[in-house]
Amino acid sequence: MAKSRPVTQLLRRLATLFLAKGRKKIIKTQPGKACLAAWPPLVSKVPRPNPPARKLVPRPTSESTDSTALFIQECLRKPAQMGALAPSSPRLAKAMAHWLPEDPKDYVIELGPGTGVVTEALLARGLCPTRLLAIEKSPELAAMLQKRFPQVRVIAGDAGEMDALLHQHTGERRAGAVISSLPLRSFPKELETRVTRKIHEILKPGGCWVQFTYHTYKRWINGSQPFDFHSTKYVFWNLPPARVLRYKKKSAPAPVK
Ligand SMILES: C[S@@+](CC[C@H](N)C(=O)[O-])C[C@H]1O[C@@H](n2cnc3c(N)ncnc32)[C@H](O)[C@@H]1O
Repeated sequence: MAKSRPVTQLLRRLATLFLAKGRKKIIKTQPGKACLAAWPPLVSKVPRPNPPARKLVPRPTSESTDSTALFIQECLRKPAQMGALAPSSPRLAKAMAHWLPEDPKDYVIELGPGTGVVTEALLARGLCPTRLLAIEKSPELAAMLQKRFPQVRVIAGDAGEMDALLHQHTGERRAGAVISSLPLRSFPKELETRVTRKIHEILKPGGCWVQFTYHTYKRWINGSQPFDFHSTKYVFWNLPPARVLRYKKKSAPAPVK
């Protein structure tokens, strides 16, 4: 083997000394090939940038966790009465709460409020809590709702009695809007028709009935024929996706002169 020259030896030594100053890491560049790179020094002199501010995601409160747990329990005990897989999403609730009566003094009846997602959306929209009457068949859900919304009249009762309940609790016979989460399609046909007839009777002329359904293809519900069909909105961000139907009670015909 040829003896290396002193200049070459010196260069090799300098290179070894230089590389020994930093710790080395092998970076693979191409398969089979490797190169040496110095690791960053252990104590960095460059100040680290502040970590990005963490986005605050609201955690579910124990209240909403409790009502969801109760809702699921009720779904398992009475599937036909509940007619849902999960509570309505806030988007569905917001779409339902869009239609408030023009006159703020009119009463609004909420049927089947369940966990209160729609109740909350109605109040957030500006409805005065004392103008809302919520009728919920499950006594457990009704009790939880009353605790959560102390100013709202929450009645543990049957939607089929809405006219008597409205009169008994407010002295009024008519309401400006009915917002319903009732699972009408899983009701026996006779009950479905009875409830929709009562909604028709209780509404003021021009009043709105808002109903959500998981049946996204049919716009008429048994008993909805005396209403004018007004609008529909699909809400895909819900489990399962839903449709909000809005019917309007036909205005009374103008008196003949
Ligand atoms: C689809 S769930 C309610 C969904 C609600 N928006 C929520 O997110 O919790 C239907 C609700 O209607 C109630 N319900 C069923 N039949 C009823 C009746 N005849 N009268 C009043 N409430 C009734 C059930 O107890 C249940 O809470």
